[in-house]
Parts: sequence; structure tokens; C-alpha cells
Amino acid sequence: MDRIKIAGGQPLRGTIPISGAKNAALPLMIASLLTEDRLTLKNVPNLADVNLLARILRNHGVDHSVDGKRAGPVPHLGETFHFTARDIVDTTAPYEMVSRMRASFWVLGPLLARLGVANVSLPGGCAIGTRPVDLHLEGLKALGAEIDIEAGYVVAKAPRGLRGTRITFPKVSVGATHNVLRAATLAQGETVIENAAREPEIGDVAECLVRMGAHIEGIGTSTLHVQGRTRLEGATHTVLPDRIETGTFACAVAATGGDVVLEGARRPLVEATLAALEKAGVTIEDVDGGIRVARNGAAIAPIARIETEPFPGFPTDLQAQLMALMTKAHGTSIIRETIFENRFMHVQELARLGANIQLQGDQATITGVKRLNGAQVMATDLRASVSLVIAGLMAEGTTTINRVYHLDRGFERLEAKLSNCGAQIERITG
Ligand code: EPZ
Repeated sequence: MDRIKIAGGQPLRGTIPISGAKNAALPLMIASLLTEDRLTLKNVPNLADVNLLARILRNHGVDHSVDGKRAGPVPHLGETFHFTARDIVDTTAPYEMVSRMRASFWVLGPLLARLGVANVSLPGGCAIGTRPVDLHLEGLKALGAEIDIEAGYVVAKAPRGLRGTRITFPKVSVGATHNVLRAATLAQGETVIENAAREPEIGDVAECLVRMGAHIEGIGTSTLHVQGRTRLEGATHTVLPDRIETGTFACAVAATGGDVVLEGARRPLVEATLAALEKAGVTIEDVDGGIRVARNGAAIAPIARIETEPFPGFPTDLQAQLMALMTKAHGTSIIRETIFENRFMHVQELARLGANIQLQGDQATITGVKRLNGAQVMATDLRASVSLVIAGLMAEGTTTINRVYHLDRGFERLEAKLSNCGAQIERITG
């Protein structure tokens, strides 16, 4: 199993290209199931999760090809993928696949809407919490689907097609909004989705669906109006930049000191994160084609208190990275996790490096220490893993991170991007 070795203490200086967003690329790929025509996606990041989902879609009968290779004239732009779901040969998403990647559960809505039938394995729990799917199922039932749970599978049928309706989610859910929105594009009549998630990745998918011929109003707001169509067409769409990768590298620069331009990053996607970093004493500046992040000499100020929230609030996917930064702040910070019940797996690992963090329920109190010391640590999930990379970059001595396959699921060329800016980081394979 690969490990990552970091010799900490080097400030980051240079440019880091921001990749296409994983959490937009995955649902965009799934949108290809809604049409028999070709969907072309540009700026797709080269990630383990993307490659696994491509395999899952091929299992359903989707034709998938990739254009040439990366490194075109604009270095931060990723690969171009083509998907054609002309003949869907299999409407089952098996446990072996869905348990490896939760987002593959999201094929449920599109398969049901287009073919009137889908058998999709329940995803089960995961490292960050129980993560139920009741909101997905209630939303699809409201659209007229008959749903049973049999042997761990969601068996969904809509023999006469789905019918538009008004759905008010009792809780904001990114995945349920994706699933119901895509299904509604092929339902009969109008669907209104209230309390929809407003994450930019949902807006990106909605814009792609509009290019495919869907009628959607209210994109970017919490109320989406969808006029169902009998068919959608092919389209070409460019995946938006990854706001979580942007925030992660911004935290890394804040943590190590230095001066880096995050190329391709867009401020409206990361306002809450940048505001938190500015409070911590980091300089943020819009520059041509990206965002400049710098901390030259100034100490890290504690952020007092922050809570994770649905967009546009501070994202749960950056909670661990901000916590890593706060381990060396001059004072005490409080971070409350409100989205997932068990997303503090990084706390014990950060403690191995000398961090002082007290956990009480959904709240972590971080008392800054003068220095972290390198140690062996274990990656537990994607964002927790990258928080250990940030801590390793801040620590004195050598940090070795085990089980880094978690990182490969969501960070493209992480070591190369950091070492190009002066970090001493290497992967040890095997
Ligand atoms: C998406 O997960 C993201 N995944 C997550 O990113 C992200 O952390 C999360 O949204 C929140 O922003 C992808 O985009 C692939 P939710 P999702 O449904 O859709 C509860 C990463 O590291 N809930 O918005 O699964 C749920 O338990 C990943 O890239 C229900 O109760 O998240 C949670 O407490 C990790 N019933 C809350 O809602 C449901 O039916 C928000 O979950 C669905 C969700």
C-alpha cells in the first residue's frame, strides 16, 4: 500500500493549477444516463473515483471514451470524456460497486426516469457517518416511483413513468437534490424542489442538463422548477473548478507560509473559506486567472468559532483542513461539525503530531501549539487524509501517511502540485 512521506517546514511558493471538481464530475457523468445521445465533459479530473464511476457506467452499457491526453495550452484543464448511453443493458448497480463509491447510488434517479426500472444497492455506512438515503427515496416516491427494499437493494419501478410534483426536503441534501433533479427532467409535467441544496456542483449539473434540453429555473437557489421533457439530447459541458481542492491548497499555504496563485480558482465558490482564512491572518487577492493566497511572517490567528453548513456556509469537506491549520494558531479555536455525525477521524491522528484538540460531541476545541512533530499517521477518509498532509507540511521532521489510496480518490497529482511549490513530499509505493 502506498505511503506519503513529508519533510515539513518548507513554505509553499509558486502556482498550483486547480482541477475540475470531483463532486461535479461524478454527477455530470451520471447525467449521461438520461440521453441516448453523446454527452461530452471537458476538464474532468483524473481521479480514482472518476475512473471507478466510468467503469460502473460501462457496466450499465454506457459507451465511454477519453480524448487524447492532458497538458494542453491551459495546464489546469483536465481530460475530455465522452459518454453515450444509447443502449442501457443493465439497470442494476451492484453492492460491490456502490459500496466502493457512494455517489454511484445516484444512478437510481436517471435509470428510473429513463427506463422505468432500477435496482441499486444501498450504499451502507461509511467512515464519516451513517449517511441514510431516505430523502432520495422519499423524493422519488413523490415523483410516483414504487420503491421496495429487497436484500439490501432499492428496487424501484415507474411503469407509467414519473410525474412532476412539489417536493419539500426536510433537510438539505446534496445527493437527494441531484437524484430528484435529474429524475424530474424526464418526468411528466412540472416538479418543484424546495429546500434544494445550493452547492455549486448542483448548479453545474443543472446547467449541463439545460444544455441537454432540460427546462430548469431557479438554478443556484433553494427552489428549483423543472418542466419535464420526453427526451434529453447530447451536449458538451466543462466541469467547474474544484472548490474543495482550492480551499485545501489555500489552507496548506496558510499553514506553511509562502505565496501561491491558485490557478483557475473562482472566488464565488469559496467565499466562506476565504473569509475564515482572512480571519486567520492570511492575505487573499484576486489575480488574473485565479486567487493569490499568502502568509509571509504573520502568525496564524485563531478563528474563534466556525460551524460547517450547507453552501454558501463553511463546507464540511474543508473542516479537517481548517482544523489542521488551527493546530498551530496563537490561541483557541472552536469548530462545530453540523453535517456529518462522525467526521472527526483526523483528530486522533493530528494528536499523534502533537496537536491539542478536545472533542465534545459535535464540537472540537483546538488550542494552538508552538510546534507539531512528524510521526506515522493513518489516512481514514479523503478529506481527513489531506488534513494530515497539511499537518505534515507544518510539522518539524518527517511525517509518514499510510493508506493514501483515500487521497487518490479526490486529489489529482497532489504530491506533484505541492512539490512544484517547494514542499518536500514523496510517495513511497508498495
Ligand atoms: C455530498 O455527499 C458530497 N459527495 C460530500 O463530499 C459532502 O461532504 C456532502 O455532499 C455535504 O456537502 C459528493 O458530492 C459525491 P448530503 P452527500 O446528502 O450527497 C443527511 C467528499 O469528501 N442525509 O448532502 O452524500 C446525511 O446523513 C464527500 O467529497 C439524510 O439524512 O451528502 C448528512 O448528515 C464526502 N438522508 C446530511 O444529510 C438522506 O437521504 C447531508 O448529506 C441524505 C442525506
